Amino acid sequence: MPSLRSFLLLAATALLSTSATSATALPHDHHDHEHTVNKRLPGTWYHPEDHPAYKLFRRDAAQTDGVVYAAVGTPEWSAGYPPAKPDPNALPKAWVDAYNAALSAGKIPKIPPSTLNGNPVYPQGFDPNGDVVCSATYKCRNNNDIWDAPDGVWGASFDDGPLDTSVPLYQFLKQNDVHATHFMIGVNILGYPEEFKMAFEDNQDDIAVHTWTHPYMTTKTDLEVVGELGWTMEIIHNSTGGRLPKYWRPPYGDSDNRVSAIAKEVFGLTTVIWNQDTEDWSIGQPGGTTRDKVDASLKQWITGPKSPGLIILEHELTNNTVGAFIQAFPLIQQNGWKFVSIAQLDGGSPYSNSPSSTGAVTPGQVAVLDGSDDSSSSNSSSSSAPAGSSTSSAPASSASSGTSSGSANGNKAAGNNGSQSSSSSSSAHPSSTGGASQGNSASTVLGSGALTCLSAFLAALILS
Ligand SMILES: *[C@@H]1O[C@H](CO)[C@@H](O)[C@H](O)[C@H]1NC(C)=O
Ligand SMILES: *[C@@H]1O[C@H](CO)[C@@H](O)[C@H](O)[C@H]1NC(C)=O
Ligand SMILES: *[C@@H]1O[C@H](CO)[C@@H](O)[C@H](O)[C@H]1NC(C)=O
Ligand SMILES: *[C@@H]1O[C@H](CO)[C@@H](O)[C@H](O)[C@H]1NC(C)=O
Ligand SMILES: [Zn+2]
Repeated sequence: MPSLRSFLLLAATALLSTSATSATALPHDHHDHEHTVNKRLPGTWYHPEDHPAYKLFRRDAAQTDGVVYAAVGTPEWSAGYPPAKPDPNALPKAWVDAYNAALSAGKIPKIPPSTLNGNPVYPQGFDPNGDVVCSATYKCRNNNDIWDAPDGVWGASFDDGPLDTSVPLYQFLKQNDVHATHFMIGVNILGYPEEFKMAFEDNQDDIAVHTWTHPYMTTKTDLEVVGELGWTMEIIHNSTGGRLPKYWRPPYGDSDNRVSAIAKEVFGLTTVIWNQDTEDWSIGQPGGTTRDKVDASLKQWITGPKSPGLIILEHELTNNTVGAFIQAFPLIQQNGWKFVSIAQLDGGSPYSNSPSSTGAVTPGQVAVLDGSDDSSSSNSSSSSAPAGSSTSSAPASSASSGTSSGSANGNKAAGNNGSQSSSSSSSAHPSSTGGASQGNSASTVLGSGALTCLSAFLAALILS
């Protein structure tokens, strides 16, 4: 029975400030939501015995790497993690070493952090759509990142869990015998361990990284990026029998060549964005969308073209975000979509050192210690260098300039060799529910748009 001590009270206060002028030309046609860390009071942080989490039949136990980890949800388990923003000066040495090795090897492009001014803004001389920066917020597609699914494929992913609102989603997925990728927030794993176990142990779904505290990652320094990714990798690793996640999704879709390179070169993580966005997170918020609009968008995409396949930004955040998906699911099936997780559409395992949630685990470390992995000779048996990272090449020069969301350019998931025409496909899917995206194509359009600034303030208290 879990003790109440050492419990983290996580309180998130979201500010929604909207400087509305016109509805055109946001660099991204949405923001991923900000209300990421729900508060939970000490008296209710664990579930009573009649909670659905306990009723679910547990499947085969997962194999592990042989290490005995503290049981998920116990004080020993949670004790080692930062309660809120990771301190970039107090990172495990192995991560800093791996970062320095990658930096010395020239694999981390020197791009200054952006600053948040509604959207991330770069200093003069750093074009967010250029080859050097290639900001995903501006829809520039780094060739190493995943934006699209292969034709006919529904790449299922849900962001911001685990939360108590996740439970009906997990139950639904399990009942329907389908699997999804859950891009999880580190502090939410700390706060919702039972829900985490449902996703991993009961559903055997894919666990992926959505950072520790859900910031705009391009605003962070290199070592702050390392901390946000590293701690999330660590808690997933230590809570899944030693598995190392292969995928991460930047909050707000905000990554660039620098951030994606740190993710890849230090942690072996592939960056996953999306090609459609329901803006489900904003249902009920001032200026937000409505459940009806979300339902309509989903229906339109589900019944629309199958090329490229869909990776839709969806959240396990509220009754409405989960409900919209559940309502749409029969239509997804009726329309013949192949429903798979992100790892499945990318041709492999969700973990770099294990084929599945239950398969064998090769012991590995959170940071990729081999900073010069250009092929060959790395001690692959002892290194945790993810198998999936073998193709990584210097990301800095591989940017494709931003085109609108139908482009398959750079989509390695679709296996199209980057050569498909992007022009004709740009209207294959409407870009957003709000119609705010059509002006995004090439130019930087920051100044003109309605900038919806979503700021999150996270307070974490340790009660004892
Ligand atoms: C993760 O597990 C390893 C191996 O047991 C342990 O050394 C490490 O301290 C754990 N990390 C945290 C943050 O608890
Ligand atoms: C959402 O709330 C309604 C009303 O309380 C409930 O009937 C429904 O089952 C909920 N949906 C989900 C997915 O939890
Ligand atoms: C890597 O392999 C080389 C050659 O086999 C060996 O000398 C070295 O000790 C290994 N390094 C590690 C970290 O295992
Ligand atoms: C990609 O395209 C290039 C140039 O057309 C071609 O040489 C190469 O074989 C292609 N690679 C794949 C994997 O199709
Ligand atoms: Zn998010």
